[in-house]
Amino acid sequence: MAILPTAWALLLIILAGCHVAHGRSSSHGIGVNYGRVADDIPPPRRSVELIRTVGAGSVKIYDANSSVLRVLAGTHMRVSIMVPNDIIPGLAASAAEADRWVAENLVPYYPETRVKYLLVGNELLSDYSIANSTWSRIVPAMENLHMSLRRRRISSVKISTTLAMDALSSGSFPRPPSAAEFRPDIAGAVIRPLLRFLNGTNSYYFVDAYPYFVWAGNNQTVPLEYALFQSGAGSRYVDPGTGLTYTNMLDEMLDAVVAAMAKLGYGGVKLGIAETGWPNGGDYEQIGGNVHNAAIYNRNLAARMAKNPGTPARPGAKMPVFVFSLYNEDLKPGPGTERHWGLYYANGTAVYPVDLTGARPLWSYPPLPPPENDRPYKGPVWCVLADRGGEKLTETAVGDALAYACGQGNGTCDAIQPGRECFRPNTTAAHASYAFNSYWQQLRKTGATCYFKNLAEETTKDPSHGSCKFHSSLG
Ligand SMILES: *[C@@H]1O[C@H](CO)[C@@H](O)[C@H](O)[C@H]1NC(C)=O
Ligand SMILES: *[C@@H]1O[C@H](CO)[C@@H](O)[C@H](O)[C@H]1NC(C)=O
Ligand SMILES: *[C@@H]1O[C@H](CO)[C@@H](O)[C@H](O)[C@H]1NC(C)=O
Ligand SMILES: *[C@@H]1O[C@H](CO)[C@@H](O)[C@H](O)[C@H]1NC(C)=O
Ligand SMILES: *[C@@H]1O[C@H](CO)[C@@H](O)[C@H](O)[C@H]1NC(C)=O
Ligand SMILES: *[C@@H]1O[C@H](CO)[C@@H](O)[C@H](O)[C@H]1NC(C)=O
Ligand SMILES: *[C@@H]1O[C@H](CO)[C@@H](O)[C@H](O)[C@H]1NC(C)=O
Repeated sequence: MAILPTAWALLLIILAGCHVAHGRSSSHGIGVNYGRVADDIPPPRRSVELIRTVGAGSVKIYDANSSVLRVLAGTHMRVSIMVPNDIIPGLAASAAEADRWVAENLVPYYPETRVKYLLVGNELLSDYSIANSTWSRIVPAMENLHMSLRRRRISSVKISTTLAMDALSSGSFPRPPSAAEFRPDIAGAVIRPLLRFLNGTNSYYFVDAYPYFVWAGNNQTVPLEYALFQSGAGSRYVDPGTGLTYTNMLDEMLDAVVAAMAKLGYGGVKLGIAETGWPNGGDYEQIGGNVHNAAIYNRNLAARMAKNPGTPARPGAKMPVFVFSLYNEDLKPGPGTERHWGLYYANGTAVYPVDLTGARPLWSYPPLPPPENDRPYKGPVWCVLADRGGEKLTETAVGDALAYACGQGNGTCDAIQPGRECFRPNTTAAHASYAFNSYWQQLRKTGATCYFKNLAEETTKDPSHGSCKFHSSLG
């Protein structure tokens, strides 16, 4: 390097100064999802400091929590709030109910808190258990909320909803994008009226789009660099239907939504990204969830979006974008990646440095740890009671989880019965470890995870002792 250490340090200080300036002006910088499915994260005031530190220009929450909305007052940050899924039929059935929701959850904080989007439900069309009760009620609820806002002369709040990629027939990997269309069960009944509403109110179709899942499920077809915006002149994809050239996975996903909207006659509806991101960790059998990839994805995303590139089908289109998520959230069920989307650990320490304004040059970040799990882990894995570094696990919670595990599968807890090989040590903790593993080894093929409300964790160290054998993924 030709730059002297002192000059280098000076440059970094100048860059840090720019960073703060951008953070303050707050109109720059992509947004962040402030998810709170955790029991150990900092309170709202500290969280808002962390959101500003990372350079976010907007924040999205999954409810309309009053403490959160109050601490966002006066920050100039654009805020997206959400109507919970389960009250949507009620808001659709009654204009008065919708008006009351607005009166209680928006009016007290607005405009000091700069609410910009009111999202009616989260990924509703992915939840088939509410298909009959709720899907056809989404747009009527949006209309009632819209009327309430108009009556109250609140014109700067856009109403929408968030949809996962599974609203498309081809799911999360719609290739070629130009062939994408909405699922037949929702296209006419739900999506068409939704698009009519969004078009008529100049609002956005908000999509949750995760190149991570596409790559993890199709690693033979989708190169990692392509998913991470790193393909350069290397991997590209040309859509045979349009001739458009793609340099990254996210653009393909977005243009698939654009193509599907156009097929219903609404090719002009604006697009927003309600969630995207990359996990910084995960289970042993999951690939690519690590700090290295997560940092690269989110830094590249921020740098890219700062230039408003749009997509190949819509060059230059401005898009609101929200990264998922502010914190690693310990109470999210499912595989390990679900609890590892954060820019911050629950203790408020950054998982890796990132500037969501996109102004910081990529070369100026310190080196990242190497990615260690981009390929599948081949050794044996067990599932045991988590060692939470001295944190005390409640005996009742562990006992409940133990009872649950023993009730699943066949002979799951035989070996921990009195007189059997794993009875000793006769403690709830030792029995829970055995039962979690026995349950998981039997049922993981059908989607069971090593979670147990965050009481369990995977290990590559054989927990067997004496004549008590813990089975592993390798038999
Ligand atoms: C809002 O958030 C605060 C802080 O996390 C929490 O204490 C409170 O219970 C929440 N309110 C509701 C209604 O969920
Ligand atoms: C929804 O309604 C259909 C047709 O009436 C019925 O077959 C189906 O079981 C219902 N689904 C649920 C989840 O209630
Ligand atoms: C969408 O909105 C635009 C602008 O208001 C309008 O010109 C167009 O006709 C609308 N499209 C449809 C399909 O209704
Ligand atoms: C915060 O948590 C992370 C992950 O558990 C840990 O690596 C880090 O050292 C913690 N930081 C502090 C200041 O305790
Ligand atoms: C892709 O995934 C398969 C199945 O998980 C694995 O066997 C293979 O090694 C992976 N390939 C790469 C390049 O990571
Ligand atoms: C338990 O045994 C029954 C009957 O033999 C079988 O159908 C079922 O698949 C078994 N369950 C598991 C988890 O192995
Ligand atoms: C095993 O532990 C339970 C709970 O502490 C106790 O009630 C029981 O008597 C113990 N059994 C033996 C055989 O030690």
